[in-house]
Amino acid sequence: MGAGRIRLGLIGCGGIVRSVHARAYLAASDAATVVAIADPDAEGRAAAATLLAVPADGSYENCEDMLAGVDLDAVCIATPHHLHRQHAVAAASAGVDIISEKPMSATLEEADAIIAAVRAAGVRYTVVHNLLWSNAMREGIRLARGEQFGDVTWGRAQSVFRKAEGLDARDWRATRSAGGGCAIDTAYHEIYCVEALVGSPVARVEGRVRTVKFDIDVDDLALMLLEHEDGSVSTVTSTWCAPSFGTEAGRWCEVHGTRSSVRVYHRDSDPLHVATAAGGWQATPLASADDPMGHIAFFGAAFAALRSGDALPVTMSDARRNLAIIEAAREATAARKAVEVGK
Ligand SMILES: NC(=O)c1ccc[n+]([C@@H]2O[C@H](COP(=O)([O-])OP(=O)(O)OC[C@H]3O[C@@H](n4cnc5c(N)ncnc54)[C@H](O)[C@@H]3O)[C@@H](O)[C@H]2O)c1
Repeated sequence: MGAGRIRLGLIGCGGIVRSVHARAYLAASDAATVVAIADPDAEGRAAAATLLAVPADGSYENCEDMLAGVDLDAVCIATPHHLHRQHAVAAASAGVDIISEKPMSATLEEADAIIAAVRAAGVRYTVVHNLLWSNAMREGIRLARGEQFGDVTWGRAQSVFRKAEGLDARDWRATRSAGGGCAIDTAYHEIYCVEALVGSPVARVEGRVRTVKFDIDVDDLALMLLEHEDGSVSTVTSTWCAPSFGTEAGRWCEVHGTRSSVRVYHRDSDPLHVATAAGGWQATPLASADDPMGHIAFFGAAFAALRSGDALPVTMSDARRNLAIIEAAREATAARKAVEVGK
């Protein structure tokens, strides 16, 4: 792709696009412009078109018509998980670069079909691992590699939320056929965060991924014990059915070293804390705690890489491994033993 502004098409204009991505696109308007959108939901489409000033002739009910009707450089896929393969393969076949919301797809088999289509078409592809791009995470990772930290001993990450009492199969996230579940939808982020803080890829997984509360056919609790390639260990706790209160609730991740510890809360007030032997946990100032979920920085980096040809923020193999860890945790639940990732 040349140095011109990226002509971007959106596949899916739902909650995350309108509440979060739109801000990131507007912040990166020097690098990319949303010229077309595709979503069968007319109301959502109209709201996104207004937010992003998309021309009337750029609004489509489905991605195939958008890809055939508009000259695009790249698409962003933000649809339910079971549609990611269809949409990524269609975009690749149209010769368009792809930024996909997580996960790559609902299954590893579908992820492999995407990888094959991307390679065959020679397009570029990345997945939104946004939390790695917040200032707090970037500084936390830097501190965890520093001399003051010592050697990594272990890590942990959690997302503890209470979903509405009425969570049921009307929500695609709570439906197996749509690729839903707490592990793939929510714990997904905790896995890449703790892996980045520990600084070593996950090699094997023990887990209990279960439905403990809601009347749904996917998990609402995901407990994982991860063993990293360098021998260190970490845990991931993720649930849709626990009260969210106090400092232990919500979403955070931490890593412990022989000299100090680092914890990142994914929020905009005091997100980064460091603990040393001399004192307890102390909030550590950051130049800016704006963009606490990292979307603005992620999309800025992705657009810059698409324009320059430099490496994209998240590789296909990183995104595939995250999905493989989730599949391994499900398999470990059934087998009641540790499972090698990707085997
Ligand atoms: N990175 C993050 O922080 C984050 C946060 C939330 C959601 N997500 C991801 O974003 C994606 C979308 O999630 P959401 O919360 O916006 O869901 P959502 O249900 O709010 O939106 C999904 C949208 O896809 C549209 N859609 C359905 N079928 C379609 C089709 N065939 N073609 C085009 N559009 C279609 C729906 O009409 C809807 O507008 C998921 O992959 C989810 O995991 C990521």
